Amino acid sequence: MSMQKIIILDFGSQTTQLIARRVRELNTFCEVMPYNRYPQEDKDVIGVILSGSPYSVHDKESFRLDLSAFVGKKPVLGICYGAQLMSHEWGGTVEKTDTREYGRAILQTVDSSDILLRGIEAGEQVWMSHGDTITSLPEGFRLSASTENVRFAAYRSEKEPVWGVQFHPEVVHSAIGGRLLHNFVVDICHSRGEWSAASFVSQTVSELQQQLGQDRVILGLSGGVDSTVAAVLLHKAIGNRLTCIFVDHGMLRLNEYEDVMRDYSSLGLNVIGVDASERFFDDLQDVTDPEQKRKIIGRDFVEVFNAEAQKIRDARWLAQGTIYPDRIESLNITGKTIKSHHNVGGLPKDMHLQLCEPLRWLFKDEVRRVGRELGVPDHLTGRHPFPGPGLAVRILGDVTREKVHILQQADAIFIRHLREAGLYDKIWQAGAVLLSTVRSVGVMGDERTYENPVALRAVTSTDAMTADFYPIPYEVLAKVSNEIINKVQGVNRVCYDISSKPPATIEWE
Ligand code: XMP
Repeated sequence: MSMQKIIILDFGSQTTQLIARRVRELNTFCEVMPYNRYPQEDKDVIGVILSGSPYSVHDKESFRLDLSAFVGKKPVLGICYGAQLMSHEWGGTVEKTDTREYGRAILQTVDSSDILLRGIEAGEQVWMSHGDTITSLPEGFRLSASTENVRFAAYRSEKEPVWGVQFHPEVVHSAIGGRLLHNFVVDICHSRGEWSAASFVSQTVSELQQQLGQDRVILGLSGGVDSTVAAVLLHKAIGNRLTCIFVDHGMLRLNEYEDVMRDYSSLGLNVIGVDASERFFDDLQDVTDPEQKRKIIGRDFVEVFNAEAQKIRDARWLAQGTIYPDRIESLNITGKTIKSHHNVGGLPKDMHLQLCEPLRWLFKDEVRRVGRELGVPDHLTGRHPFPGPGLAVRILGDVTREKVHILQQADAIFIRHLREAGLYDKIWQAGAVLLSTVRSVGVMGDERTYENPVALRAVTSTDAMTADFYPIPYEVLAKVSNEIINKVQGVNRVCYDISSKPPATIEWE
C-alpha cells in the first residue's frame, strides 16, 4: 500500500497485533514486521513503534537490532520491552524486579509538557505487564510519568523524537492508551488519517485494475465473509472477468448453499456452483479419525475445485480471501511461526496461476467495514466464521448424510434462537455438535429412547487463537434445548459447552 504508514517492529509480544489494530482505528495504515526487518525503502513511513517482548534485555537470546536505521530519522515509540531496549542500548539501567507487575496501575505524576502525554493527567489508570523495570535513564533523556511502583513509567529524549512507555497503551484496560496513541500517531507522526474503508476500496480497485489488466481471475467462494468481500471487491475492479467457484461438499448449514447462491447472484457475481456432496460422502464412509476426515475433505475439495478451474482455460490468477492476521508472522519464544488458520485449498496444478490476495492488509473488522462500503448486506458481513470442512468437524465419529441432516436441524434452531434473543452479533462463533459416538437413555411419552446428545458451543474471541464461552442466559438455553429435543429426531439430550480455549478448542472435531 503506498500511503503514510507506521511500522510496528514485533519483539514477540502477545499484544503486538493489538497495537496494529489501535493504529488502524486512528485511520492510519500500519504494518507489523519482525523486529529485525525494518524496511530499507521507508519514504512512506511516518513513525516506528517497538513492541513488548517475552524476553528481558538481559537474556542472551533477547532480540537486538540496529536502532540507527530509524532513530533520529522517524519518531519512535517504545512500548514495555521496546522502551527498556532503547534505554539499555543508550546507557540507562534496566533491572529485574522482585515481583512481576501485572495489571492496573495509577499514574502519580505526569509531565504535561510532553506532547505524547498531552491531555493525560495524574490519577489516570494504565495497564502494566513486565518483569524488568528501568531504574535510570540514559543521558539526554527525561522522565515524563511515574506510577507508585514504577518511577520511569514514561520517558522522552531531549535530542531526538524518541519516547518510551513501560505500560501498554494498546490494551483496552489502559484508559488513556487511546489518547496516548492518538498523540503519537496524529500529533507527533502527523498522520493525515487517510486509511478508511472507502480509501481502501478506491485504492485497491485501481491497483487491481493495473495488476490484472484484461486477465481472467478465478476465486473459490465459501460463503464466509472474507471470500465474499474479496469477490465483490474484485468484481468491482474487473467485472465478469472474475469467475467464482462455490463447492458444496454437503456439510454446509441447513439451506446454506441455496441461500448463499441467491445472495451471490443478487450481488451480481458470476458464480459456478458445484454440488459435489455425493463424492465427499462416499469418500468419508466409515472414516472416524478426525485428521483423516479433514485430509479427505481437503483433498476432494482441491480436486473438485481444480476440475472446475481447468474449464476456465484462459485464467491467469487465483484470488483468495486471505486476511492480515493469516499472514503476520508472530514470533514466539522458540522462533516458530504460530499459524491460526487451516484454510482448505491449493493452487490448481498445470495452470500456472498467480496468487491475488486483495484483503491481505485487513483485520477481520476492517473486512466487514469494507464489505459494508461495497454494499454487501449485513447478514453476509456479520456472519460467524465457519470451518472449511463444515459440519464434518462437528460430528464425532463417521460422517453420514443422515447425521449431517440431524445436526443441520439442531444448528438451525440454535442459531435462530441466538438471533431472536439479540445475541448473534455479540458472539464470535456458534454452532451445534453432534456427539454421535455417545448414546444415552431418555424417555419421550411412554417410550424409552436411546439416542445421541447435541452439544452447543458459542464463544467470544477476536482472532480464534483464544476464546471464551459466551454466558448465554438459561432461559435461551432452555428454549433451544426444548425445541431441539422436541423437533429433531435422533437427539434426546442437549448440553452447553463451558470450556475456554486454551485448553479446549473451538471445534470438537
Ligand atoms: P479451533 O477448533 O482450532 O478453531 O479452536 C479455530 C478456528 O478455526 C476454524 N477451523 C477451521 N477452519 N478448516 C477451516 O477452514 C478447518 O479444518 C478448521 N478447523 C477449525 C474454527 O471454526 C475456528 O474459527
